[in-house]
Parts: sequence; C-alpha cells; structure tokens
Amino acid sequence: MKRIGVITSGGDAPGMNAAIRAVVRTARMRGIDVIGFYHGYSGIIDNEIVELTYKDVGGIMERGGTILRSSRCEEFKTTHGRELAMKNLRENGIDALVVIGGEGSLTGAMLLEEEFNLPVVGIPATIDNDINATDMCIGVDTCLNTVVEATQKLKDTASSHERAFIVEVMGRKSGYIALMSGIAIGAEAVVIPEVPVDYGALADRILEARKRGKINCIIMVAEGAASAYTVARHLEHRIGYETRITILGHIQRGGSPTAFDRILASRMGYEAVSALLSGKHNIMIGLQRGKMAHVPLEEALSKKKPLDMSYYEMSLLLS
Ligand code: F6P
Repeated sequence: MKRIGVITSGGDAPGMNAAIRAVVRTARMRGIDVIGFYHGYSGIIDNEIVELTYKDVGGIMERGGTILRSSRCEEFKTTHGRELAMKNLRENGIDALVVIGGEGSLTGAMLLEEEFNLPVVGIPATIDNDINATDMCIGVDTCLNTVVEATQKLKDTASSHERAFIVEVMGRKSGYIALMSGIAIGAEAVVIPEVPVDYGALADRILEARKRGKINCIIMVAEGAASAYTVARHLEHRIGYETRITILGHIQRGGSPTAFDRILASRMGYEAVSALLSGKHNIMIGLQRGKMAHVPLEEALSKKKPLDMSYYEMSLLLS
C-alpha cells in the first residue's frame, strides 16, 4: 500500500480534524502518502485533491468543522456517480480510502468496496450517535457539552420568569442527544422518537414539579420526535403558564472538540490506518467497552443503534 485517500462526508462533527490528523500522521510515519479529497464524495467525483503531509495537519486538532470540508452528495448515490468517483480514485493511485462520517457516508464506503473492490475503512463521526456497534461516534461528546452549556443559560432565565422552556435538539431519528443532555441538565422531561409522546402525562409531570416548588422547567425535544412548536402548542393550554421555545440548531455541530472527542478521533484515525496496513478493510472502527473494535461495515450499517432505554427510565426518576 503506497497511497491512501481520506474524506470527511455528510454532516460535520467536532473532532473530524483530529481524525484527519491521526490518519495522515499514522500513514506518513509509515511511509504512505495521503491524498485528501475536499467536500466528501463530491470532491472525489470532481477530483478536488490535496496532498496532506505531516506538517499540513499541525494545529488542526483543536479546530471545529473539517479542513477537508464536507457535503452530502446525491450524485454518488447513483451507479454512474460512483463509477466517476472510482475512475478518479484509480487515476490518483489511491490504494485504499478512509471515510470519516455518519451512516450515509459509511454506506457509500461499503458500496465502493463491494462494487469496485477498493479497500475502505470507515470512522464513525456524527453528533447523532446513531451508528450501530460503536458506543460513541466522534463529535457526540462535544455536541452534548454545547447543548448543556446553552441549556444551562436557558435555565437561569427560565427560573427568573418561572417559565417552561421547550428546547429542540438535533439527532435525526435518534433521541440520544435529547435524552443524554436532558439527564445532564436535569430536564423535567425528554420527548424522543423512541417513546410515543403523551401530552396529558407530560403536562401532569410539569404541574407536579411546579407543585413541588420547582420554578424552572426544561423540556428537551428531539427533532425526530416532534417540533418544539408542536410540543409548546400541546402544553401551553394544559399547564397554564408561559412557555418559550429555543431551537439550538447547527450550533450543536460546531466548536472546538472536547478532550474526549480529540482522543477518540485520534484513536480511530490511528486504528483505521493500522487496520489497512494489516490487510483489514470493509470495516468500521468502533469503540466497544473502551477498546477499539473492527466492525464489518455490513454489521455497522445493518440497523440503527438502539437507544439504551435504561437511561430513559433513570431520567424519569431523577428529574
Ligand atoms: O446528522 C447530523 C445532523 O446534524 C442531524 O442531527 C440533523 O438532522 C442534520 O444533520 C442536519 O443536516 P443539515 O446540516 O444538512 O441541515
């Protein structure tokens, strides 16, 4: 193996740069060239390449976003698009590809291996933490810290005005971000796609808390469950006091990665190149019980990561 390619693809996640750095440095220290393609799969199709040296990735670990930029590429979902991409990968002498991204991006990697026998390794990076067979994806920890920091501020003003705040967070079809940030913030309730919402019970819960003397009320809502506006509409007339809505949006995807994400990304980038060098591919690097794991891409993509519902039960007791 002489030359590997690397892309970041799909929604960006804090820590992607640390993963790029680890891929580049691990490869270069072992005498392998690294070519980055800008804008994920669309940059492979358009041949937007950059050679990455040891020095090029200095000082990027602490930066949010991705120096290789990212995109969601519709063309790559077609056979023709993948053929164009493969032609450029061949012409650039790419022997293997490391794909850093979420479910859609890892699916693209698997197709390249299955259709063209290109060795690929995936690194799970998405704030949604919805990828099977890895305890954590790169970016999740930073995202949770961002949500907690922002919501803590909302709690201050919620207390002053004795209001209920409905806070909508990302996560696509997963309630992970809402549930975990809800636990960390002491939210009154979380509304997640994994549990059908009962607005009557939710309102009772809020009123009970008010009776106990709680002067603020935070409801974390996962975007995949309902919109914050819908939740507010259902609650306001039931609870009889003021609600306010905050949609945190893309702030959740930005920012300097936490130490946890930097270390996770470094481990996964290092492991991805090490796996390729030992002849392993068509895999995703996962974190399982604290250790790096080689998960067949097919297994990683066979189903969505189920949410551990014991956290939900716990959140009901603690809030
Ligand atoms: O997958 C990451 C994510 O941030 C989801 O949580 C969210 O639904 C989606 O991407 C937003 O995508 P876009 O950046 O294209 O608006």
